[in-house]
Amino acid sequence: MQFENKIICDGLLNKSLEVKMQKLIIYGPAKLMGEIEVEGAKNAALPILTASILAQNKVIITNIPDIADVRHTIEILKYLGCKVLFENNTVVLDSSSIERFTIPPEYAKLMRSSVLFMGALLSKFRRAELSNHPGGCEIGQRPIDLHISAFRQLGIEVFEHNNRIMCRCDKVKGSEIFLPIPSVGATENIILASIFCDGEVVIKNAAKEPEIADLCHFLNKLGAKIRGAGTHIIKIEGVRKLKSEEVVHKVIPDRIVAGTYLCAVAACGGEVVLKNVFPRHLDSILHILKSSGCKIKELKNEIWIKREERLKGGLRITTHYYPGFPTDLQAPVCSAFAVASGVTIIKETIFENRFKHVPELVKMGADIHVEKDIAVINGVEKLRGCKVFARDLRGGAALFVAGLSAQGVTEVMDADYIDRGYERIEEKYSLLGAKILREKGE
Ligand code: UD1
Repeated sequence: MQFENKIICDGLLNKSLEVKMQKLIIYGPAKLMGEIEVEGAKNAALPILTASILAQNKVIITNIPDIADVRHTIEILKYLGCKVLFENNTVVLDSSSIERFTIPPEYAKLMRSSVLFMGALLSKFRRAELSNHPGGCEIGQRPIDLHISAFRQLGIEVFEHNNRIMCRCDKVKGSEIFLPIPSVGATENIILASIFCDGEVVIKNAAKEPEIADLCHFLNKLGAKIRGAGTHIIKIEGVRKLKSEEVVHKVIPDRIVAGTYLCAVAACGGEVVLKNVFPRHLDSILHILKSSGCKIKELKNEIWIKREERLKGGLRITTHYYPGFPTDLQAPVCSAFAVASGVTIIKETIFENRFKHVPELVKMGADIHVEKDIAVINGVEKLRGCKVFARDLRGGAALFVAGLSAQGVTEVMDADYIDRGYERIEEKYSLLGAKILREKGE
């Protein structure tokens, strides 16, 4: 097999442009009441789907969220030659007819996580090509230097030419890789590339996110030998072959979607039970909301939250790698504390351009000032609805939360950003009593 030069696109980009321009119209203020099931984790589903190209037999993956990024990943899998069925949040995948190792630019541009196909394809074919730097939300520079340098340490040749990244190797060599930053994507890519390594690959200062542990759990079911997932040291012992049995796997619940519900209740008031959650994955946000006056009870796979009095601000919140406070919840938390009492300070340490929701919140009457990586929030009594623009996935979710708590009508434009990571958000929040419509935008 040779590197493919011909790029075949089945119109995915056009399809994604069609769904752009959606808007969500929120009639606020809402008081959220009831019970809701939290969907499976996007950030676990995407690497697990990518990893499934390595399976020897059919895989059945359940609790897959029906979101745009999952659909894009499935398009890539089909493009590579996999047979994929996606129904009722379950993917059935057969990769026996996979024949390509190139990710064309149309696909690479859509999602940051397309970069993970590099690791998986290297394990499958010892060849991989990404025809564009991976896309995704513009929340910072988001380089992939750590992925590339780790690949080189594994004995993989990496060529970059005209924005294309080509990788090849005869054998991935056992090595010890120290990550200067515990990057989620780099940790996953190293794991995916090392399944059949010579000897052992040890990742030091690996990312500890639960989604990585879920990926490793899935890979071990396939027959890989990975230890230490969820800790700072992950060891991958190379295997010669994966198991031939069919594998079934259930994706962990989405802690960011769950955290967004918690922020929405904190902003609007009400009483909600979240079902299908792992409370231990949400320690940092639960701690913040408890300190701010929310009543919270954690059960085995459920969280009960009630907010009666106005949310109390006055905290200093800093984003961190897991188990610290997640950068993906920074924007929804901003919306909740925009209507809290007192001054709350949020420091963003992971991405350098992740306050794009702030000018939109200010349009709604929020009093927030951003200086470099710090947002100072002077809580106001209430926000008022108006037309706002989503600029990225989590920032879009923050505007949605703000719209729920605001007086009057909020139009969240470009809601397709939100659809990348939240399954039918308007339907889910309607079940909790919110009034929301979806329309084609201008
Ligand atoms: C993943 C998550 C994303 C989350 C982020 C941080 C998925 C699909 N996405 O993104 O939702 O916000 O973790 O928790 O799981 N970096 C480099 N060089 C690299 C790689 C990363 O400098 O080669 C930097 C990034 O610019 C960023 C930091 O490391 O400042 C963390 O990024 P990383 O953990 O890699 O995030 P992603 O895997 O892209």
